[in-house]
Amino acid sequence: MKIGILGTGIVGQTIGSRLIQNHHQVMLGARSAQNEKAAQWVQQQGEHASQGTFADAARFGEILFNCTAGMASLEVLQQAGPDNLPGKILVDVSNPLDFSRGMPPVLSVCNEDSLAERIQRTFPQLKVVKTLNTMTCAIMVKPDSLQEEHNVFISGNETTAKATVTKLLQNEFGWKSVIDLGDITSARGTEMFLPLWLRLYGTFQSADFNIKIVRK
Ligand SMILES: NC(=O)c1ccc[n+]([C@@H]2O[C@H](COP(=O)([O-])OP(=O)(O)OC[C@H]3O[C@@H](n4cnc5c(N)ncnc54)[C@H](OP(=O)(O)O)[C@@H]3O)[C@@H](O)[C@H]2O)c1
Repeated sequence: MKIGILGTGIVGQTIGSRLIQNHHQVMLGARSAQNEKAAQWVQQQGEHASQGTFADAARFGEILFNCTAGMASLEVLQQAGPDNLPGKILVDVSNPLDFSRGMPPVLSVCNEDSLAERIQRTFPQLKVVKTLNTMTCAIMVKPDSLQEEHNVFISGNETTAKATVTKLLQNEFGWKSVIDLGDITSARGTEMFLPLWLRLYGTFQSADFNIKIVRK
């Protein structure tokens, strides 16, 4: 499958590398078609990897991942070009973290709205599925690196898009427990987990942890 990843940071690279290991073709998108991080990544990953602008990656991908800084995601999708988006699934991994006032960052949107909802409202031609944003990227693509069973969440308005993304999480990354939280408004909950995630990271001095839901 051809997969377009918007974002050249650690998340885009980690997800892209895992998908290339699974024999998919992946293009990383950036503001510049010559982005240096993407160029290094392409060199490391070989023939199934490529780079381009956000618009190039959006055009290339049959399915898209949003791995951009949350404060920039709406702008990135504008740059990706409305013509390149219709009908496509956007797996939204971003978090609306605002670092402008220092550390820890604050949420730029919360309570009665979320970044995922803003993306879905602004780009109704996309099928936005929020997932994977509640853990560090090494765990996103290798959940069995933690010994116990643990959980990933999905939120989205389209049942079929969520089913496709659930299969992708299971078959490409090895997720065993995917919890469907409901429509895209449920992304408020996972995005608002971030302040706690950041405090846990500070306490553990490690990102190697995730949520495990225990029920009676
Ligand atoms: N780090 C993790 O393990 C982790 C875990 C869960 C969720 N997340 C979320 O995943 C997303 C990606 O995180 P990351 O650490 O890999 O990367 P990041 O540094 O948050 O974002 C990098 C990407 O954002 C783009 N970008 C930044 N400012 C921009 C602007 N003003 N206009 C257009 N594009 C802009 C960059 O474009 P260029 O390529 O052109 O520079 C780059 O592709 C974030 O939303 C983060 O909160 C991260």
